[in-house]
Amino acid sequence: MKTIQVQLGERSYSINVESGILRKLPSILSGQNHGQKWIIISQYNLMELIGFGLMSDLNEAGFKCDYITLPVGEAAKSMNEFSRIISQLIEMKCDRSTTILSLGGGVVGDVSGFVASSFMRGIQYYQIPTTLLAMVDSSIGGKTGINIAEGKNLVGSIYQPQGVLIDPDILDSLPREEVIAGLGEVIKYGAIHDEKFLNNISEWLDDIDSFPFAKAVLRACEIKAEIVSLDEHEGGLRKLLNFGHTVGHALEAHLGYGKIRHGEAVALGMKCAGWVSSKMGFMSVDENISLTNTIDKLSLPHVSKVDPNTILSYVKKDKKMRNGILHFVVLNTLGEGNTCDSVPDNLIKESLKVIQ
Ligand SMILES: NC(=O)c1ccc[n+]([C@@H]2O[C@H](COP(=O)([O-])OP(=O)(O)OC[C@H]3O[C@@H](n4cnc5c(N)ncnc54)[C@H](O)[C@@H]3O)[C@@H](O)[C@H]2O)c1
Ligand SMILES: [Zn+2]
Repeated sequence: MKTIQVQLGERSYSINVESGILRKLPSILSGQNHGQKWIIISQYNLMELIGFGLMSDLNEAGFKCDYITLPVGEAAKSMNEFSRIISQLIEMKCDRSTTILSLGGGVVGDVSGFVASSFMRGIQYYQIPTTLLAMVDSSIGGKTGINIAEGKNLVGSIYQPQGVLIDPDILDSLPREEVIAGLGEVIKYGAIHDEKFLNNISEWLDDIDSFPFAKAVLRACEIKAEIVSLDEHEGGLRKLLNFGHTVGHALEAHLGYGKIRHGEAVALGMKCAGWVSSKMGFMSVDENISLTNTIDKLSLPHVSKVDPNTILSYVKKDKKMRNGILHFVVLNTLGEGNTCDSVPDNLIKESLKVIQ
């Protein structure tokens, strides 16, 4: 088992990555079992695939384990679903000692984490990510939240899990498009922090059927853990994780949530941000070509009807705006991200030509 520490003082926790780790959960978690209720929050398809097996393993080992399901899709990150789960926890006689096991992708992880942060003013939870995106990104760092009519992730908290348990074998059943979307975030880590990793990813993408997911997940988690450990509340360094996300989030909002996957939008957003970086003289044109070539190895959806003015209006509403200033993430060079507060609006609009 490979273990990575997220160093946050008394809120520190480990990320464990190992093939087949799910079968070992009863023994891994036994030290934390004090007779409390354990609730798996997941989706029904994932319960059938993994969850029911996990629940019976835990119950056989003396845990008191039950489950709650969320619907599939972004709609699950809603105030209604949030309150339904809270009510269900009360109905199940859960209390402050209850521990949540979040089993799923980013949608399940974001809602479960938010439930854990607010139920009875905060209970313990573990992240068991099942998508590539959740393994390398959303399960680490404690960002939790739900969407409201005015926008995505506008209600939430930063609330760290007790641990993150990753079984890369679970990716075998993940649909191809979800894998591709997750690879967008994997490329991001190489782009902002590790040129060698970026080069490796580029080579691995030449034969995606043999892509070494366990290796890539491990390196991506190391980078995310390092960044979160240094800057939990996104005061500085953590902003770099938003590379590709300014245009990415705007694309998601413009095209409609569910029309494009988060990781796909981020991959397209990185092409725009790479172009902006070279246009503003941060990284060279050749470096941008190399980044673009890597991203283009993902078969990304084609976005034809993107209106630059609408994209810009979404960019202006983004959470990354602080005091009216947009902190746009650029690359100084491949493997080195930076924030720039003076990217002209026109350049953001012009950059959209590289994805159409
Ligand atoms: N909290 C954070 O830091 C953070 C970071 C990035 C993204 N996010 C959020 O994550 C969400 C996207 O997450 P996602 O991309 O994981 O999508 P998702 O959670 O919607 O999962 C995608 C689909 O894959 C299915 N699935 C999951 N694991 C599977 C498996 N092993 N086999 C077969 N099917 C499986 C799910 O049921 C779902 O239908 C967005 O809401 C985004 O805002 C949060
Ligand atoms: Zn992201």
